Amino acid sequence: MDFKPAHPETVSAQALGWIDERTRAITPPIHVSSTYLRDADNQYRSGRVYARADNPAFDQAEAVLCALEEGAQALLFASGMAAATAVFQALAPGDHVLAPRVMYWSLRNWLTTFATGWGLQVELIDMHDPAAVQAAVRPGHTKLVWIETPANPLWTVTDIAATASIAHAAGALLAVDSTVATPVLTRPLALGADLVMHAATKYLNGHSDLVAGALVTRADNEHWQRVRKVRAQLGGTLGSFEAWLLLRGMRTLHLRVRAACASAQRIAEHFSRHPHVAEVLYPGLPGFAGHGVARSQMAGGFGGMLSVRVKSGPDGGEAAAIATAAHVGLWKRATSLGGTESLIEHRASVEGAGTPAPPDLLRLSVGIEHVDDLIDDMEQALRRAYA
Ligand SMILES: Cc1ncc(COP(=O)(O)O)c(C=O)c1O
Repeated sequence: MDFKPAHPETVSAQALGWIDERTRAITPPIHVSSTYLRDADNQYRSGRVYARADNPAFDQAEAVLCALEEGAQALLFASGMAAATAVFQALAPGDHVLAPRVMYWSLRNWLTTFATGWGLQVELIDMHDPAAVQAAVRPGHTKLVWIETPANPLWTVTDIAATASIAHAAGALLAVDSTVATPVLTRPLALGADLVMHAATKYLNGHSDLVAGALVTRADNEHWQRVRKVRAQLGGTLGSFEAWLLLRGMRTLHLRVRAACASAQRIAEHFSRHPHVAEVLYPGLPGFAGHGVARSQMAGGFGGMLSVRVKSGPDGGEAAAIATAAHVGLWKRATSLGGTESLIEHRASVEGAGTPAPPDLLRLSVGIEHVDDLIDDMEQALRRAYA
């Protein structure tokens, strides 16, 4: 682009202003080739060899993500889990890593089973408490600190800058799962993180029609080169069509995230005063434990995710929560988050044994519908659940 935009909204809306020099198309084609021609003298001057390692279909989406996260390089993956696990698989057996007790459950599960079996020393801690991080890091031995903020499903907030200082002083990298915050609200690399991870399945794509993951690094270092190899060799590589859809989804990222944040704030405030609700967990509520840190590292909103703990009904809190979810009409009873449509789920049922989600908790992903419709639907569901 000749004109360098000052605002990230412009970067995403125009996908960095890409134009196809040959056809003058303003959206890229979908490259589907699995292999690339070798030069007659046996070289690969194009830099492309085989699509498990690399694919021109990724270039534009990776460049947009890099610009939004202010990073050096980005990599797309076949899922958020493929991206996250690549960060750990680029370490060596015996390395010590710290991860939060409250985090995306499937990654926690992988860390405590597969990764531990493979030789990583995984320690789960109260990551939102800098004193706990300080006490747990082992200088020279801890190679990675993984945080998620706000973190599923309690929306626990972790101070990125404070955790980065502790990790770096111990010689460890800091990686942030920023799926819920998105680059619209938080830029972890600018706060000192080394890596940002996104389940691009969620807000980055935003339409619940693909599964994808992404990593962005602050620097092209040895660990990043190993991450790149993990993708190329293990093959957690995104498909061409999904990469193209993701780029299209990211064009409206700012509009969608801002709309979801505004509605989530209103829903959180509304239901925190509701007679059938015991507690609303949302970083945008002034009484929420992580609100102060969230204010300092989230700009323009506190995210589209919140959880509602319902009051106990005649059959207990869990039954009341499940009954409320049973009676919604507009909200969709489904897992996942970050789409245009609002979702509701009884989180303990999804996570199973060992979940930090109390049995009375409903996790809400707020979409971009009219907020009054969302509030009215929840109101009638609660009325019917407690009738
Ligand atoms: C915060 C967070 N991180 C990572 C993931 C994993 O992403 P994916 O489902 O694309 O593998 C999810 C999925 O729900 C998530 O919510």
